[in-house]
Amino acid sequence: MFGPRKSIERLSQRESGHALAKTLSWPHLIALGVGAIVGTGIYTLTGVGAERAGPAVILAFAIAGAVCACAALAYAEMATLIPAAGSAYTFSYAAMGETIAWIVGWSLILEYSLACSTVAVGWSGYLVGWMQSAGLDLPQMLLVGPHGGGLINLPAVLVALAVMGMLIAGTRESATLNIVLVIIKLVALSIFVAMALPAFQSGNLEPFMPYGFASTEIEGQKRGVMAAAAIVFFAFYGFDAVATSAEEAKNPGRDLTIGIVGSMVVCTLIYMAVAVAAIGALPFQQLANSPEPLALVLRQLDQPVAAHLIALAAVVALPSVILVMMYGQSRVFFVMARDGLLPRALAKVSPRTGSPTRITLMTGISIAIVAGIFRLDEIAELANAGTLIAFMSVGACLMILRRRSPELPRLFRCPAPMLVGTLTILGCAYLLFSLPGSTLVRFGAWNVIGLLAYFLYGRLRSEARREAAAA
Ligand code: ALA
Repeated sequence: MFGPRKSIERLSQRESGHALAKTLSWPHLIALGVGAIVGTGIYTLTGVGAERAGPAVILAFAIAGAVCACAALAYAEMATLIPAAGSAYTFSYAAMGETIAWIVGWSLILEYSLACSTVAVGWSGYLVGWMQSAGLDLPQMLLVGPHGGGLINLPAVLVALAVMGMLIAGTRESATLNIVLVIIKLVALSIFVAMALPAFQSGNLEPFMPYGFASTEIEGQKRGVMAAAAIVFFAFYGFDAVATSAEEAKNPGRDLTIGIVGSMVVCTLIYMAVAVAAIGALPFQQLANSPEPLALVLRQLDQPVAAHLIALAAVVALPSVILVMMYGQSRVFFVMARDGLLPRALAKVSPRTGSPTRITLMTGISIAIVAGIFRLDEIAELANAGTLIAFMSVGACLMILRRRSPELPRLFRCPAPMLVGTLTILGCAYLLFSLPGSTLVRFGAWNVIGLLAYFLYGRLRSEARREAAAA
């Protein structure tokens, strides 16, 4: 009913000229994971989350983290079972058929590209705050998009284009540089916690849930713990970018398990510490909607040097998130093109660097345009919608393949797979429906466009269909 399915055995076979080079080992993958996970979510959306949930943003982080932990377990099993590029898209192709795979792939395109744009805007917030505190003022017209009365968010555009250039220069170099940037990012967050925790005041945590638990509309804005969880969910994903690079891992079984589960655990612990430190140090109203909430906390605590350093660290290191997400995006696009669902000419790999140049160029430019024009929370919410669909599909794939093919060798076996799969699907669905109605409408429109493209183009040129017809 949902089109042809791919055989799991076939997924490891690659045609020459369209195969990716095997260059990554587990330290690269864990750095890739942490590099993709820690970013604008914790550095910037903590403020948006505080606005929506009050001090209970701490709880929102815990809820989003718990849902992502289930998804990470499902991913780890699926990524080691099917170590081929394309993550949720490829898993769905094998477990549920082409039509579902297309919907998931189309959602992944939204996830990765909009996550890049979100981080580019978050980066711009820290850059501008940092420059202003150093006494450098740029014309406002060039710092915010039309929604804020400006023309374009130029720093966000430039950082997206710069990262695109790095990716085109080659995977290996980018992944190695990423390790250095990850260390900077983690050291800065540790300094933040060390500086902010001594200023903890329990009074700042009361009332803990001023807007209640469920996501409800209050004064034209979604509020409540679940509304915050639906946006800070952004802070947790990125580990799936590790799965998208499975085809390039030297030893997929061991390396991917360490990469996915390890980076998830590290990040969850760090976020809880940062959220408690930030909310304890300042009344949540002051954090709300700041473009650089962590630097703000430190400035308010009379720590201008530390504020300066954290902003600098964000400016230097946040591009690593864009790097990993853009990498994941180009790889998903690449696999869909290789499967014939998108124009095949796009899947051409550069013989010099082993990376798909045309796709990277195309997606990089689109990401820069969105970052230059739109508002941070709106972009993040739409990226979350795409990601939630992808996570749900992975939960479903886990359960379907355990039932259908229990005999397949699994290098990582997810504990209690039926429970974890069900929790992943239900948790993601709850987060999805806690997003604002306007986001859901945009997401629906994106899928309508996607399905039209599929039925008018992809379905007619699908490799899997051609092979099924020839057989
Ligand atoms: N989790 C990534 C971030 O927070 C996307 O920036």
